[in-house]
Order: sequence, then C-alpha cells, then structure tokens
Amino acid sequence: MTVLITGARGKVGQAVIARLHSAGLTVRAASADPAELTVPDGVEAVELVLDRPETFEAALRGVRQVFLYPQPAGIHELVKAAEAAGVEHVVLLSSSSVGGPDAENDPLASHSLKVERALADSALTCTFLRPDAFASNSLGWAWSIGQAQPVQLAYPDAHIAPIHPEDIADIAVEALTGDSLTGRTVTLTGPASLTFREQLAVLSEAVGREIPVVHITRAEAEQQMGAHMPAHMAGSLLDLWEAANHGPAAVADTTDTLLGRPARTFRQWARENSAAFTGH
Ligand SMILES: NC(=O)c1ccc[n+]([C@@H]2O[C@H](COP(=O)([O-])OP(=O)(O)OC[C@H]3O[C@@H](n4cnc5c(N)ncnc54)[C@H](OP(=O)(O)O)[C@@H]3O)[C@@H](O)[C@H]2O)c1
Repeated sequence: MTVLITGARGKVGQAVIARLHSAGLTVRAASADPAELTVPDGVEAVELVLDRPETFEAALRGVRQVFLYPQPAGIHELVKAAEAAGVEHVVLLSSSSVGGPDAENDPLASHSLKVERALADSALTCTFLRPDAFASNSLGWAWSIGQAQPVQLAYPDAHIAPIHPEDIADIAVEALTGDSLTGRTVTLTGPASLTFREQLAVLSEAVGREIPVVHITRAEAEQQMGAHMPAHMAGSLLDLWEAANHGPAAVADTTDTLLGRPARTFRQWARENSAAFTGH
C-alpha cells in the first residue's frame, strides 16, 4: 500500500516522508519540482502540480492514502482522480484559520476551506489537521536578525501559539498509520501563547544576542509585505495579527491527547534552528 505525500519539499512533508519511510511504509513523494526534491533512498519522487491534472494519474497509481498540502487550483480534478485510483483516506494539512470568522471571504482561510469542502463532498474518508501558525514562520525574520538589523513589526504584541512543524508531522503520521484520528477535524497549536516580542526574546537567547524590535505602522508593514506576497494576503495576515493583539492565543491540548506527550516548545524550535538566524 503506497502513501502519497504532496508538498514534499515542505517542512511538514519532508518530516512525514522520513517518518513513514523509517516505519517501513511504501512512500511516494510528490512535488511541483521533483528535480529539487531530496528524499531517502527507496522513496519514489514524482511530479504533481495541482493545476496540471495530467500529472495526477501516475502520482496516484496504487495509492491508498494521501497526505495533502492544500491547493485549491485543480482540487476537484484531483479528488476525482483519487477516487478513480482507489484512494481511501486523505489527511489534509489544513489551517486553523478555517475555523475563524468569515473564513469564506478571507484569502488565507478560503485557500484551505475550498480544499476541505471539495474533500468533504467526495467519497474519500478525510482527516483535517488544522494547525495554527508554524514556529518556522519566524524564519521570515532571519534576514534582519542575520544582518543585526531590528525586526520591524506592526503588531509586536500579537499573541500566537506557534506549533513546531515536527509535531504536525508526528500527528499526520498518527493519522496515516492509526485509526484514532480517521475522519476527524483537529486544531493543532503549540504548547504556549507567545507574543511576537516574546518569540523574539526566545530567539535572542538562542542566537546569543539582543534582537531589537521596532514598532511600525500598518501601512508600512503592508508596503514591506507587499514585496513578498499579494496585497490581499498581506492584508489578511495583518488583520489576523491585529485581532491577536488583545489577549493570549487559544492553546489546544491535541498533541498531549493524540500523542500522549507535550507539544515541542518554541524554545526547542529556536535552538534547533538558530543557525538560520546567524548564518553559522
Ligand atoms: N505557515 C503557517 O503558519 C501555516 C499555518 C497553517 C497552515 N499552513 C498550511 O501549511 C502549508 C505549508 O506551509 P508552509 O509553506 O509555511 O510550509 P512548508 O511545509 O515548508 O511548505 C512549503 C511548500 O512550498 C512548496 N515549495 C516550493 N518551493 C519550495 C522550496 N524551494 N523549498 C521548500 N518548499 C517549496 C512545497 O511544495 P512542492 O515540493 O510541491 O513545491 C510545499 O508545499 C500551506 O499550504 C498552508 O496553507 C501553514
């Protein structure tokens, strides 16, 4: 029985591939760019581009379970191809934003919501993992920190409960190898609510020097973020952080209850990834 992992170059995809392969499962890794993909020996790498349905059949041949990165383009065609190929179970890397207000009209949330809906309308058994912000999002600060520049934030006191991508991978593997999660929708967070300022203090400890924070206006942040993402996405993220400015983020106990152990902390993620902030 083959398990197909999409988004295979991603942090969660890579970790899921490694875990399933070490557990002895037959794993196929699908990426938009398989030539750039590194996988363990014995893992087949294939091309899967969600807006190119001609890539679906070969990727899905002999597959019974899929770990899916959300991509609305081509999702209806992918669902049909998965049903035709005999796929039984899809574990989706969705987002906690799907449970937020007005998710349909929010560009960030609607991305995952469209995929959840297409899967829910299918004959496939589906498990929806809805993580909160990844701890690895703080890599967005790596350039400034590496250059000893202050980190500029419009909402430095916004609260987030960042989740370690390896915890998402552990829960995904539980969903793919056991039956405790099958058919369920679960929200996943890290173990503690931390403001951006508090996350930067933890990173500062990990890199061994102070990281100054500069408070900028929303308009300035929109302009900076607009260089890396569409304006409506930047607006949606800023709305999220503005709303998160007023008190601690909800912390889910899903890692404890699903895996029987505490979630990895942001401090652990910062220690493991400190080199990305110092260039060492
Ligand atoms: N980041 C968050 O806070 C967060 C929170 C909740 C949900 N999510 C969901 O989780 C998914 C992945 O999140 P992410 O992008 O932050 O992390 P990620 O796990 O690192 O995923 C990176 C994605 O980008 C693609 N990619 C393209 N070029 C790449 C490259 N050079 N190196 C690595 N990956 C490359 C990968 O797919 P290919 O190999 O096919 O190109 C993969 O799908 C998103 O779809 C998002 O909806 C994210």
